[in-house]
Amino acid sequence: MLSKKDLLGLEGVPKEEINAILDTAIQMKKILMSGSKKTPHLQGKSVILVFFENSTRTRVSFDLASKYLSAASSAISASASSVSKGETLLDTARTLDRMQADVIVMRHPMSGAPHFMAKNVNASVINAGDGMHEHPTQALLDMFTIREAKGDLQGMKIAIVGDIMHSRVARSNAYGMQTMGAEVILAGPSTMIPPGIEEMGIKTTTNVDEALTNADVVMGLRIQKERQSAGLFPSVREYYKYFGIDQRRIELAKEDAIIMHPGPVNRGVEMSSMMIDSDMSLIDEQVTNGLAIRMALLFMLTRSER
Ligand code: CP
Repeated sequence: MLSKKDLLGLEGVPKEEINAILDTAIQMKKILMSGSKKTPHLQGKSVILVFFENSTRTRVSFDLASKYLSAASSAISASASSVSKGETLLDTARTLDRMQADVIVMRHPMSGAPHFMAKNVNASVINAGDGMHEHPTQALLDMFTIREAKGDLQGMKIAIVGDIMHSRVARSNAYGMQTMGAEVILAGPSTMIPPGIEEMGIKTTTNVDEALTNADVVMGLRIQKERQSAGLFPSVREYYKYFGIDQRRIELAKEDAIIMHPGPVNRGVEMSSMMIDSDMSLIDEQVTNGLAIRMALLFMLTRSER
């Protein structure tokens, strides 16, 4: 099972623990794909989803994962919670804890907010994305998808292209994939590559062709269009021209390369519609795998005896 009460990030999570989560998710995916999805794994447990930022995939998959495993679940958003009346995060945390939640799943625009929550509650806290920091369950489902397609992450060349600076997905994937023995290369405009990332042993480049050459996995990241007004890239058209993943660029990758994206995708910005809908694309499979990973995590965190 898991060594810590919470899953707040993948920095420092050992390979054995990542493999244990991915292995459990294999079993959960079997349940998910079977005719009967309801199981008693979380009978008597409760899960509260606290989302202070918009989400489709993460929120719905955690909600369904709780329900499929028979937990009692409840979801609140910032606008519908007492936070909108001025309640502090600490008081919100105390309130949820007194409702005897076993797991709190939290997305927040501020980096570190789930860590603060975790320190103040008895429940296990899962970080569902905090600011520009980490999105560990996304990285786990990405690694699950790669392992499923390629057998192993060891030795895989994984090119991650886009707004690295603001991407919690890139950060969690960089930590996790490196732990799993993959060669990670991050590519994007120089204004979107954070300084000091190479000190983590991760290669960076502003040349997407270089990143994609002989890649086993090509992952696009969402470009947040508000970054354009901040002057981080000149226009969506120019971004696509220099950094977009298209037919010519994908031909630089290995013949059996796979295309991934955490979603939501801006079609024709990070990658062409042809790439998104091609046979090489596992973007839809990532969504299904997200459910399996979240079922696995809810099960493992509620089973752990610490
Ligand atoms: N990938 C991801 O986190 O998507 P949502 O914002 O829809 O949850």
